[in-house]
Amino acid sequence: MTIIDATELPGRKAYRLLVDCVVQRTIAWVSTMDGEGRVNLAPFSFFQAVGAEPPSVMLAIGRHRDGEYKDTGVNLRATGECVINVVTDELAEAMNVTAGEHPFGVDELKLAGLSIAPCRHVAAPRVAESPIALECRLAQEVPIGHDGENRYLVMILEIVAFHVRDDLYDDGRIDPRKLHPLGRLGGNAYSHPGEVFEMERPPATRPH
Ligand SMILES: Cc1cc2nc3c(=O)[nH]c(=O)nc-3n(C[C@H](O)[C@H](O)[C@H](O)COP(=O)(O)O)c2cc1C
Repeated sequence: MTIIDATELPGRKAYRLLVDCVVQRTIAWVSTMDGEGRVNLAPFSFFQAVGAEPPSVMLAIGRHRDGEYKDTGVNLRATGECVINVVTDELAEAMNVTAGEHPFGVDELKLAGLSIAPCRHVAAPRVAESPIALECRLAQEVPIGHDGENRYLVMILEIVAFHVRDDLYDDGRIDPRKLHPLGRLGGNAYSHPGEVFEMERPPATRPH
């Protein structure tokens, strides 16, 4: 076993090791609007479900090289809203186009040849080509970093509406064999979802 003391790792190396260790990460493809109504779209794989009552997710948003928070974070702070679109296999290349480091205000949806569809509760649109979209409102912001130097903003988001394409949806559930979410690994690596299998949980013995 090699043991690497995290306190001695410079940031870039810590990032590389972390994203190799925590796989396969689902990609949140986040659409937001800025104060002037311009749409922004970018992928985030520091993304996870964090609670169900209310249904909640988190995103960790870093900074651009110029030190500014990524536009998604700036817009979320300004409007308190976003939409998380699920990236499937066939949307991989379009997703990659939207990851480019563009100036604030550039419409990545147009660059990637994507179209938009309206949401019910939030002003930002969803990606029409994505089979699942979660309308979200910002609930909490948690800074990550040492000595007051915030490297990431963890945004805790409450889901206010789920959009699910009809062919995937049945009686409150989504068929995992039909959805093909792209997985993010370390470096530039991605994974297709593997074989789906089922396993019963052990019977509960804890009294209630
Ligand atoms: C698959 C993928 C996942 C990414 N995940 C994150 C992430 O979790 N946090 C982050 O700060 N940047 C992440 N990035 C980089 C951002 O997408 C990129 O910096 C983008 O330009 C930010 O756009 P924005 O400034 O419009 O928000 C990721 C990029 C890719 C391709």
